[in-house]
Amino acid sequence: MRQNPASVSQVEDRVKASRVNADFDQRVALAPPRAEDWVASPMAGVTRRMLDRMGDEVARATSLVRYAPRSQFERHEHGGGEEILVLDGVFSDETGDHPAGTYLRNPPGTGHAPFSREGCTLFVKLWQFARGDTQTVRVDTRRATWHAGLVPGLTVMPLHEHAGISTALVKWAPGTRFTPHTHPGGEEILVLEGLFQDEYGAYPAGSWLRNPRWSRHTPFTGSEGALIYVKTGHLGAELLAPDDAGSGG
Ligand SMILES: [Fe+2]
Ligand SMILES: [Fe+2]
Repeated sequence: MRQNPASVSQVEDRVKASRVNADFDQRVALAPPRAEDWVASPMAGVTRRMLDRMGDEVARATSLVRYAPRSQFERHEHGGGEEILVLDGVFSDETGDHPAGTYLRNPPGTGHAPFSREGCTLFVKLWQFARGDTQTVRVDTRRATWHAGLVPGLTVMPLHEHAGISTALVKWAPGTRFTPHTHPGGEEILVLEGLFQDEYGAYPAGSWLRNPRWSRHTPFTGSEGALIYVKTGHLGAELLAPDDAGSGG
């Protein structure tokens, strides 16, 4: 896809100026995206739904990103690292094709020129690596192993762990009830399938939640069950900051 230099810089200026759900002490619960929630990115054919975003020249950001069929993103370096879960379609770059269900971590210092032949939707987190987290990760979540969770009905697929920050997929059988618990380092959830619930609401597939540090809840599922992406321990954690990146950022 071609890019138009003038419109690219306009879009970038708008994006750089934006702060979205940037107060990490606030609970956020976003319903699945509607058509109007998707906004243009600097690249033709690539749209985004911003979930949270802070920073000016280089943003710490969490987004859903959608590539239209036969679209591409410009070559870029990951100054602060990039985490991706492929939600549908096939995402590709120089390292290969990454179909739905692929979990990727591209640590600080890596770069690529991604594209999609058939189109895809991604969950992307930028600039959210702890110092010293240099591991490149590729997990095919359709084939990786599930482990028993803490209560009956719960199974867990660990995706990554570093410096007290844990990321996993968690599968909830219908009618599962977890114990009341507190998240000292916060919790972030993307509902992938089914209907996830707690005492504050019900969250269908596509919902995104950010529960602040020291928040407390008692999640459960009803007749549907749920599959969720969960990250804990990262809110308030010391993450690599754009200032640390030096000339490579
Ligand atoms: Fe990237
Ligand atoms: Fe929780």
